[in-house]
Amino acid sequence: MRVGILTGGGDCPGLNAVIRAVRRTLQHEGTDVSTVGIRDGFLGLITGDMEPLGPGSVSGILPRGGTILGTSNRDDPFRWRGTDPPSDVTDRVLANLRDAGIDAVVVIGGDGTLDIAHRLGELGVAVVGVPKTIDNDLAATDRTFGFDTAVSIATEAIDRIHTTAASHHRVMLVEVMGRDAGWIALHSGMASGGDVILIPEIPFRFESIVAAIDARKARGKRSSIIVAAEGAAPVGGGLSVYKRVEGGADTVRLGGIATRIGDAIEGEIGLEVRATILGHIQRGGTPTAYDRVLATRFGVCAARQVLAGNHGVMASLRGDEIVAVPLVDACGGRRRVDPTGSLVSVARATGIRFGDEPTD
Ligand code: F6P
Repeated sequence: MRVGILTGGGDCPGLNAVIRAVRRTLQHEGTDVSTVGIRDGFLGLITGDMEPLGPGSVSGILPRGGTILGTSNRDDPFRWRGTDPPSDVTDRVLANLRDAGIDAVVVIGGDGTLDIAHRLGELGVAVVGVPKTIDNDLAATDRTFGFDTAVSIATEAIDRIHTTAASHHRVMLVEVMGRDAGWIALHSGMASGGDVILIPEIPFRFESIVAAIDARKARGKRSSIIVAAEGAAPVGGGLSVYKRVEGGADTVRLGGIATRIGDAIEGEIGLEVRATILGHIQRGGTPTAYDRVLATRFGVCAARQVLAGNHGVMASLRGDEIVAVPLVDACGGRRRVDPTGSLVSVARATGIRFGDEPTD
């Protein structure tokens, strides 16, 4: 048997740990199985850019960030932009798989990548998925690898922002990633003792943020930390869009909410304001131990599905167990923060404000 491995969409700490786990499990538990790395996501399937993953190819990659295979979030074989106009090039994908003698493909990616994998499955390609995203917003799994790393990086950054905020008696805004889910903001804000956390699931009002800062000032607190998810938005207001792009998986690039809030409140609070956008630092570098283990568990599960001939499924964390669920489950539905859920309730109990509190 020959098995291809592909990483698609944005990169994420832990991708290499999955690749390693798939390669090793196929080697240890399979009989006469070879592994092929497909370069740059679906682009490698379209152009036939692949390389054998020999026995030494995954040595030393467990702690490495990024993906040794490269990735792309712009190369959808059902509507490939490499042709003018964009067209369906899945016949090329099928031919390249046939020519390379690949019997099954392990696809590691987010909802967009897994959706393409599912549709290739409908064309007869044997696919097994592994979910990834730092945003932790896939409905089909309780947790994605990369999230713990992103939260740890954001938490450390906010810890550092705390000390300079205190020294200068400033209000510091920290903007974190997460697309339209507030998981990274909520977890890193809670872990770092943020005073106000703004998430897409709870629209905020500027007056409420000002009131939260004023209340802290009245208690003698001359600095405050506001953690804002990039997808947070005011009641009745739009998203903060840094740029609109054509042809990508996401047509808007979020960014700028921290500066927008800072500009809106600075004149009201009588304190200096500074904004920091953490950006891709949250996705780079070495994965945490938790993410390495989760990624390894996903990779082993995916390889076992391939060996069992169980296609059209993906690895998923349910409670403490890794299970195989239908790949189609990953294609619909995002898991977002429940504004009335226990985590938000715990945060509120410790005094964290979400910008939706009434003002008199
Ligand atoms: O989905 C992961 C993510 O990092 C989001 O949190 C963020 O909005 C987006 O990807 C950034 O994508 P890009 O790397 O294309 O700028």
